[in-house]
Amino acid sequence: MAVQQTISVDLGDRSYPIVIGRGLLDGGFDLGEFVSGTDCLIVSNEVVAPLYLDRVLSSLNGKNVTTIELPDGEIHKTLATMQEILDQLVDSRANRDTTVIALGGGVVGDMAGFAAACYMRGVAFIQVPTTLLAQVDSSVGGKTGVNHPEGKNLIGVFHQPQVVMIDTDTLGTLPDRELKAGLAEVIKYGVICDVEFFAWLEANMQALLDKEPAALAYAIRRSCELKAEIVAEDERESGCRAILNFGHTFGHAIEHCLGYGEWLHGEAVAAGMVMASELSAVSESDRTRFRALVAAADLPVTPPAIDPADWLSAMGMDKKVRQKKLRFVLLKALGDAFITSSFDADHLQRILGAD
Ligand SMILES: NC(=O)c1ccc[n+]([C@@H]2O[C@H](COP(=O)([O-])OP(=O)(O)OC[C@H]3O[C@@H](n4cnc5c(N)ncnc54)[C@H](O)[C@@H]3O)[C@@H](O)[C@H]2O)c1
Ligand SMILES: [Zn+2]
Repeated sequence: MAVQQTISVDLGDRSYPIVIGRGLLDGGFDLGEFVSGTDCLIVSNEVVAPLYLDRVLSSLNGKNVTTIELPDGEIHKTLATMQEILDQLVDSRANRDTTVIALGGGVVGDMAGFAAACYMRGVAFIQVPTTLLAQVDSSVGGKTGVNHPEGKNLIGVFHQPQVVMIDTDTLGTLPDRELKAGLAEVIKYGVICDVEFFAWLEANMQALLDKEPAALAYAIRRSCELKAEIVAEDERESGCRAILNFGHTFGHAIEHCLGYGEWLHGEAVAAGMVMASELSAVSESDRTRFRALVAAADLPVTPPAIDPADWLSAMGMDKKVRQKKLRFVLLKALGDAFITSSFDADHLQRILGAD
């Protein structure tokens, strides 16, 4: 018996449900109900398709389904790969009623969503996320896109899905390192906007690392609820949605300076969040609690060695762009983040090892 919970992302006529449960891919959920026409294209990759494609196909009984398997990895999140998806849509004579279904992690979801947004100026799109990061973050909120050689996610659009179907059983095959990287974003929700959730994470981190189903289900549900609330308030990130970038200015700089892929995004964000907490005017005990939770998730609490000049340039603070006002997401306390462009610049220099 599949046990499932549903959260709604309230965006007027673009509202959609996030369905979370076990066994959803084993007959517990009728995905076909969300496919309005008869045709769909499932976009997956060479790692995830062998594990889960059959089950998605059987939940689409009676539909006319084509599939495409992309190569695995962030380096393939490019316009060239997106072209392959579009070619497949054209080859299969897809029309405006075709639904694109993403089966995989954030890389697959971002590209499938972007292709769905562009094909015939936009066709329907469904997310079936299979990494923890995709289940708590990238599949919710409608950001889609690909990388440009000069920067991550430089090309993309907003395109909301019809439904996000999260079968938590898929995490059973996820490598531990990927699971922990996803936990960084889970911790982020607690620290930016829900101190009770933060305390729950302190009490349940080991259960999450052990992939205990009830703990995972709760962490995913609460993360999705919090993201859904923020997205409903500010769909296009003109205001409060930016608090979801807590730790990301530092984290992106780490990823950029080390070369993408050296540290996983969640690992870089974990160290970046600890740096952001250091820059925040919070109590020493809050700071210690935060660092301890990141460490309990077996995530890095200190950044790698990076030359201070490289830090500044990666964060857009080198001399060439110094007139640009840098904004940070900082904490007032655990569970209470805000966006500001006023911060202690000397303190920042010390955090970056630049004084
Ligand atoms: N759209 C957004 O709002 C948003 C938010 C955050 C991140 N992102 C994007 O998401 C991407 C990162 O996503 P990710 O962390 O899911 O990485 P990913 O998609 O590369 O997946 C990580 C690895 O796990 C494999 N995998 C996926 N599901 C699996 C499973 N169930 N069992 C075994 N292996 C599995 C993948 O093939 C891959 O090798 C980045 O490109 C990032 O820019 C987008
Ligand atoms: Zn992130």
